Amino acid sequence: MATCWPEPIVSVQSLSQTGVPTVPNRYVKPAHQRPVFNTTQSDAEMEIPVLDMDDVWGKPEGLRLVRSACEEWGFFQMVNHGVNHSLMESVRGAWREFFELPLDEKRKYANSPDTYEGYGSRLGVVKDAKLDWSDYFFLNYLPSSIRSPSKWPSQPPKIRELIEEYGEEVRTLCERLIETLSESLGLEPNHLMKALGGENKVGASLRTNFYPKCPQPQLTLGLSSHSDPGGITILLPDEKVAGLQVRRGDGWITVKSVPNALIVNIGDQIQILSNGIYKSVEHQVIVNSGMERVSLAFFYNPRSDIPIGPIEELVTENRPALYKQIRYDEYRSLIRQKGPCGKNQVDSLLLSR
Ligand code: OGA
Ligand code: NI
Repeated sequence: MATCWPEPIVSVQSLSQTGVPTVPNRYVKPAHQRPVFNTTQSDAEMEIPVLDMDDVWGKPEGLRLVRSACEEWGFFQMVNHGVNHSLMESVRGAWREFFELPLDEKRKYANSPDTYEGYGSRLGVVKDAKLDWSDYFFLNYLPSSIRSPSKWPSQPPKIRELIEEYGEEVRTLCERLIETLSESLGLEPNHLMKALGGENKVGASLRTNFYPKCPQPQLTLGLSSHSDPGGITILLPDEKVAGLQVRRGDGWITVKSVPNALIVNIGDQIQILSNGIYKSVEHQVIVNSGMERVSLAFFYNPRSDIPIGPIEELVTENRPALYKQIRYDEYRSLIRQKGPCGKNQVDSLLLSR
């Protein structure tokens, strides 16, 4: 796999700070990919489900709510999720401070496409690709053997501790969610975790996304349409600025985040394991001219070196296996070359019938 980027990296935040009046051509999306802002009245009223996790954990009715959210939307917001609210605020605040550091300081962590770890401004290594209006910091969290805190930012002073504290709470939440997803699919509580490789072998990573102000938000995207490649994603959105859009039919729903909520979405590997019962739904991020936006995406993924395919119990005569098996390391390396590409990657595993 390539070890360098095909073109010199430009920090979008620095570009935005120069006050460019127009979006450079590298970021101008073809007309059919540009964002849609003016939804019809009925679309504007649509919302992804909001689940109070106190009504979900250990409750049969809760399992039905989870099942219908994962079948129909692939996304839901969680309140009473158990992650400390002031920790959420502090870790997001610390990342905001990181992005406010001078470019030279951030560049010390400049990443390369072989692991993506560090500070970066592009996903994918396709030469001449249209780029997204964002910068990010990516780090490995699990298994702890691949965690390298020395590659994590050292400024602001508390950021490493905050990442770990937040990581531990979100990891616990993910373990609980995987158990709930398993039961909601009619499986034993530990079945899905076993299929992911077991809680000591699963992978997790954190990507903090920074979306700078954009002079022409109608021409570009903060993050192009994609589905998340892994197991589940826990998103801590910006507390003030909306931007996440979720695919609904031919259109997009802009998520209005509930105060202190976390957003969870199903990734491609759970779509595969559930034999297509749960949907890994396309999403994208729009930007705006007035406010920058910060979000933290915690990706909880299968163990990378075992085959992932539809769970046997979910394959029946009426519902034959939809996908061929693939190891997550192989899947991820394909995604890392191409960058965000809608649902093309998971669709490429569909078995023809
Ligand atoms: C992602 C993602 C959404 C957001 O990082 O994969 O979809 O709101 N982020 O930043
Ligand atoms: Ni995503």
